[in-house]
Amino acid sequence: MKYYSSIIPIEKPIPANRQGAKRHYGVHPYFTRRPYNVVRKYILNYSRVGDRILDPFGGSGVTAIEAFLENRIGIHNDINPLANFIAKGIVNLHHGNISSYRTALGVLKEKCETPLEKLENASEHELSRWMKKLSLPQNVRLPRNSDVEYYHDLFLPKQLAALALIKESIDELEDRYARKGLLLAWSATLTKLNKTFLSSEGRLESRGGSSVFSIYRFKVAKQPVALPAWRTFYERALNILSAKEEIDGEIELKKRTVGWHGKFEIHMKDIEELADELQDRVDYIFTDPPYGGHISYLDLSVLWNAWLNVLPSHKAKEQELIVGGEMNIDETTYIRRLGLSISACAKMLKPGRWMSVVFQHWNTAYFEAILRSAAECGMELRAAISQVGDPIWSMHKKKRNESVLAGEMIITFLHTGKKQNLDSGRKMDVQKVVKKILDAENAMQIYGEDLFNRLVIEAWRTGAISSLNINRTEFTDLLRENGWTYETSNHCWVKESVSAGLPFM
Ligand SMILES: C[S@@+](CC[C@H](N)C(=O)[O-])C[C@H]1O[C@@H](n2cnc3c(N)ncnc32)[C@H](O)[C@@H]1O
Repeated sequence: MKYYSSIIPIEKPIPANRQGAKRHYGVHPYFTRRPYNVVRKYILNYSRVGDRILDPFGGSGVTAIEAFLENRIGIHNDINPLANFIAKGIVNLHHGNISSYRTALGVLKEKCETPLEKLENASEHELSRWMKKLSLPQNVRLPRNSDVEYYHDLFLPKQLAALALIKESIDELEDRYARKGLLLAWSATLTKLNKTFLSSEGRLESRGGSSVFSIYRFKVAKQPVALPAWRTFYERALNILSAKEEIDGEIELKKRTVGWHGKFEIHMKDIEELADELQDRVDYIFTDPPYGGHISYLDLSVLWNAWLNVLPSHKAKEQELIVGGEMNIDETTYIRRLGLSISACAKMLKPGRWMSVVFQHWNTAYFEAILRSAAECGMELRAAISQVGDPIWSMHKKKRNESVLAGEMIITFLHTGKKQNLDSGRKMDVQKVVKKILDAENAMQIYGEDLFNRLVIEAWRTGAISSLNINRTEFTDLLRENGWTYETSNHCWVKESVSAGLPFM
């Protein structure tokens, strides 16, 4: 117990390395994947070898996979079958040997390459003959805001046929580990072989992504790009082989040095139900809950879930922690559930252990739900770090810059069990606090995200968060009034005397 209470919290942002691990980057896309190196540092700081590390909103599995590779028990949970398919698919790459994977890929090449080339140039009549022989996924209805009504309309006929052909050949592979690994490559291929794939301007046609990851809906390209099926799959399969080699290498290194004890556990539950199962069983939580209404994970994941035959239940859709979506979940419900998710985490976390929550949003009521619920459950706020200045800014940040909050805050709590009921309803002089923060820093430049996060934390600490109601325009106006200018090239605010090239007084 003493070990955990003497841990010194991480007090500085950790530069994100998004592309440094083949097991996460390039294997299979997912929404809002956290940089693995940041997650790993948090795990190493707040837990010990053999500990049970949970991510109840696990997504593509970064937390549990990194915990597993650091000789802990990685516990992954997500309500979305696609998330679990990816997380399990990646971690299971440690099974089997690389030569069987290579052999399996060779078998697929033999079976698929020529037929797929024929498919590219097939006439409509030939294509419809192919389609009759292949097994296609359920033609489910798509979310209302999609450009097309049914699942099959997301594909050109030859894309449907190509994907079906590759999948059938994978299903017939003998080696079960290679089969599962290559199915992950197939699923990543599916992301590219459909009409929502939009090529990035000025880059190779194959570079780009599905609209589900950029504008978070099924937008169909005016002129769909039909990438060559075999080559697209083959590249994804090679990424899988590299990821496997990397994972095998990490485990081998542990075996040779400190010994290998990593374990992995997977759950597919709503977080509140998970809490009943894992009560008092977790040593550290690192998690990244959905941030409001941006992304309807279950609606968008139908692209993969339909073909993998793992469509979520109606109940799961109702339990999803989002605003809006096909179930039209309202914001009040989201805020209430966000608070309940934090209580669920407190229930699972052993006393005296740590929890880190990643979050970012303009709506301070969302932060309040997290902070208030944590305090009421006996989790003390010990650190709040803005992970800003990421060299890879999102498309939204690039387009709308100053009004978009990029990066995120990592809020860390210690489960002391001392319940706090912070007096709320106090007023805060936002202008004064902003000035105080800026002056105290004596900074020449500041990220808007960082300043906003500090404002939120200050409001929380002084019992004024429920009265903090500042919108993007008011916030940016405030900075301008204080003599700061937004610099689009660096996405940060600079003191006017600096931006004008004058010496700072
Ligand atoms: C922001 S993402 C997490 C991404 C993750 N950090 C990663 O690195 O890939 C949030 C996740 O919460 C899941 N989710 C939404 N509502 C949930 C619920 N009620 N219970 C469990 N998971 C839920 C979504 O499916 C989504 O994968």
